[in-house]
Amino acid sequence: MTKRIVVAIDGPSGAGKSTIARRVAEKLGCIYIDTGAMYRAVALWASRLGVDLTDGLRLEQLAAAAEIQFESGSSRLLLNGEDVSEEIRAPRMSQAASKVSSVAGVRRALVAKQRAMGAESSVVMEGRDIGTVVFPEAGVKVFLDADPRARAERRVRELRDKGLEADAGEVARELDERDERDRGRADSPLLQAPDAIYLDSTALTPDQVELAILKVIRDRTSNGKELSN
Ligand code: DC
Repeated sequence: MTKRIVVAIDGPSGAGKSTIARRVAEKLGCIYIDTGAMYRAVALWASRLGVDLTDGLRLEQLAAAAEIQFESGSSRLLLNGEDVSEEIRAPRMSQAASKVSSVAGVRRALVAKQRAMGAESSVVMEGRDIGTVVFPEAGVKVFLDADPRARAERRVRELRDKGLEADAGEVARELDERDERDRGRADSPLLQAPDAIYLDSTALTPDQVELAILKVIRDRTSNGKELSN
């Protein structure tokens, strides 16, 4: 018999969630959903329209109205039909997304979209609240963490690889600020679900993290062959 599975990967910025979630989804043949990209897309739309990031009502309306699609087989995100994959990665959008994500109405609207995406297929979904709020019944939950210094170094490398300028001190400060906001907000703060496996990726290679997560999935799904789309 085949069974649908939800793999929830939560953790702070720079812990390696996206790289690992994408790889694991590929290995399992399921859909990969980067929920942070959805908050970034709403932040981008708000900034293009000049909406104040403290205007909760307007932000909630935008989040509800936003048509967000992930192009299958790639990590490209379409906002209202437009490919905004590069634009949402600008450092300015990281801070804006973090602010937008503390608005309860925005979370309500995006969580509804995330649940709909995970309702029909097997998915690997990564974010901050997947195991706690979006899919508390997920079959596999991982909390992926890393030392703040290692996370800041990874961010700097990522930005430089893209040809962007990155000041290490500034990146570390911004990451701290975002961590504090994401962990401290009233609605769905970044939190490890009680039944999530804690994994510290500081001293591990992406291959090692991937193997560890695949093992958790195998253990939780008895033989790893139960997946279906
Ligand atoms: O994963 P990321 O860095 O692209 O996420 C951008 C911001 O979105 C992050 O600072 C917190 C927020 N976020 C959230 O609140 N809940 C999620 N499930 C995913 C992201």
